[in-house]
Amino acid sequence: MTAAPQQVRNRFTDSDGSPIVNASILSADFARLGDDARAVLELGADILHVDIMDGHFVPNISMGPGVCAAVHRACPDAFLDVHLMITDPAAYLEPFARAGAGHCTFHAEVASRDELIRMRDRCHELGMTAGVAINPETPSEAIDDVLEFFDLILVMSVHPGFGGQSFIPDVLEKTRSISRRLRPDQRLEMDGGIAPENAAEVREAGCDVLVAGSAIFGSEDREASISRIRGNGS
Ligand code: DX5
Ligand code: ZN
Repeated sequence: MTAAPQQVRNRFTDSDGSPIVNASILSADFARLGDDARAVLELGADILHVDIMDGHFVPNISMGPGVCAAVHRACPDAFLDVHLMITDPAAYLEPFARAGAGHCTFHAEVASRDELIRMRDRCHELGMTAGVAINPETPSEAIDDVLEFFDLILVMSVHPGFGGQSFIPDVLEKTRSISRRLRPDQRLEMDGGIAPENAAEVREAGCDVLVAGSAIFGSEDREASISRIRGNGS
C-alpha cells in the first residue's frame, strides 16, 4: 500500500501550461558552469535541466549530485529539473533532493509499475515533483498504467546519452496521443534535438516543457534562440 502522496507546489505544478523553456546544462561550458547557467536564465530560460548519466543506462557519464548542488549554489532561485538516465534511480532521489532538485524524472525502461509509483511517492515526500520518461523506441503503452500518477511525462526525441543529436520526428505521433490523455495539471516534456526550427511542431504535439541544450548554449544569439523555442518572434 502506498502512502497518500503529499501535494508538491513548484514551477511545474503551478504552471498554466504555457511553454517552459528548459535549458540543458549538459551543453554549458563545464569550466564555468555557474556563470553559463546564470547567463541563460538572465536571457530568458525559465528553468535548468540537469542530465545525469551513469555509463550503464546510457553510454556516457555526465555529472552527479555534487555538481547539481554547485549549480544550486550558483543559481539558488533556479528551478532544477533533474533527468536521471541511470539504471538505479531510486537510490539517488534523496541525494538529488538534498542537492537542490525541484523535480526528478526517471525512465520507465528501468522499473516496474510498482517501483515507478514508489519512486513517485518518494519524490513527493522529499518535496519534489516526479516525472516518468520514455525513450524514442518505447511505445506510449509502456506508461499507460502509470500516466495518471505523474506530474510530468517526458518523451525523448533523441536516444539519450549525448547532447547535439538530431531530432527524431517519429516520436511526435505518440506524443500527441499521450497529450490527449493528460490532465491540465500534468506537464508534457520533450528532450533532444529541439531548436527554433522545430520547436513549433513540438509545442503543437502538446508539449509545454521544451528542453534545449546545444540550441541555446551553442547559439550566437542565445536570447533569440530561447524566445523562438518558446514561440515568440519566430
Ligand atoms: C540527451 C539529454 C538531453 C540533452 C539535450 O541524452 O537528455 O537533455 O542535453 O541536448 P540537445 O538539446 O543538444 O539535443
Ligand atoms: Zn535530458
